[in-house]
Amino acid sequence: MKVKTNEGLMNYKTIWFDKENNIVKMINQPLLPHKFEIISLKNYKETALSIKNMTVRGAGAIGATGAFGLAQGCFAFRGNLKDFWKHFEQVYETLKNTRPTAVDLVNGMNYVMREMEIGDSVTECQKLALEAAQRFADEDAEHCRMIGEHGEKLIKNNSRILTHCNAGWLAFVDWGSATAPMYKAKRNGKNIFVFVDETRPRLQGARLTAWELSQEGIDHAIIADNAAGYYMKKRDVDMVIVGSDRTIGKTGDVANKIGTYTKAVLAKENGIPFYVAIPMSTLDWNLNSGDEIPIEERNPEEVLFAWGLDENGNRKKIRIANKDSVARNPAFDVTPAEYITGIITPRGIFKPNELSKLRD
Ligand code: MRU
Repeated sequence: MKVKTNEGLMNYKTIWFDKENNIVKMINQPLLPHKFEIISLKNYKETALSIKNMTVRGAGAIGATGAFGLAQGCFAFRGNLKDFWKHFEQVYETLKNTRPTAVDLVNGMNYVMREMEIGDSVTECQKLALEAAQRFADEDAEHCRMIGEHGEKLIKNNSRILTHCNAGWLAFVDWGSATAPMYKAKRNGKNIFVFVDETRPRLQGARLTAWELSQEGIDHAIIADNAAGYYMKKRDVDMVIVGSDRTIGKTGDVANKIGTYTKAVLAKENGIPFYVAIPMSTLDWNLNSGDEIPIEERNPEEVLFAWGLDENGNRKKIRIANKDSVARNPAFDVTPAEYITGIITPRGIFKPNELSKLRD
């Protein structure tokens, strides 16, 4: 993804690994759109914290961070093979216990684990872990590029598309899931307009998706989450494309950022196609229905307070709610398969009840 910087247009990924120094590097997302900064995480505990405090967020980006964090933790180990696997378990659990909903995190780490298990020395396991983590991250970017190829065909010239949260480049290693078809459409010369739900409480839409679309020169407007139904009823929205943090392979139920379910119901009511874009790492083949998906409950402060720039350009936290009130803050909801028109994957577009075709 290209980013406009003081030095000109630069090419960036959301996250990458500095092998020589065993450091995970990533874009510091809470500072966007006001400041573009890269941070370096020196050990797996710092990397785990970056997932927990959402320095990095978004299903695919969390998956790649988990994979790199695991390799980083393995690489730092000195000792014999038996102790290595004990250490591995500790690293794995620390990373896993950061955020519960996005299945890419566990899928990424399990991929690394499977690939390194054949190693018969510590050095061999470390090497295999690093290669696997890099492969997983590269595949994430490639899957998103393929989602773009397939999804672009759904977008007609002059389409008006609504999206929720940030399933963009920043939520993955590159391209994004929901945004990849939009970027492809734009590059293929189609004229598009995007309604960007602001996505309370953390405002990933207003802060991140809007920033990304600006970098790509795509026409868009941020709307309050509550405005989506108004525009749908007026026939101003032609289609909805969102991402997912966990999609149940057996049913096609989709967990995504809180507020997605509302949009899906509104879209069905208004006869608007509702698409979900996912790489393969977002598929969960273990759970039997969306009701079983663990939903992260985040700090109520995210609802009661907001972050922004004051008039002097300093980043500031302010209270926006009544001081005696409490808040509830579920971070995700589940959209049942019946509301979903199609699921855009790297292998094509499927009905929610056809996902079993994708099982290897
Ligand atoms: O809480 P976040 O920001 O990690 O949530 C992830 C999301 O941005 C969305 O749910 C997104 O639509 C799917 S992630 C590709």
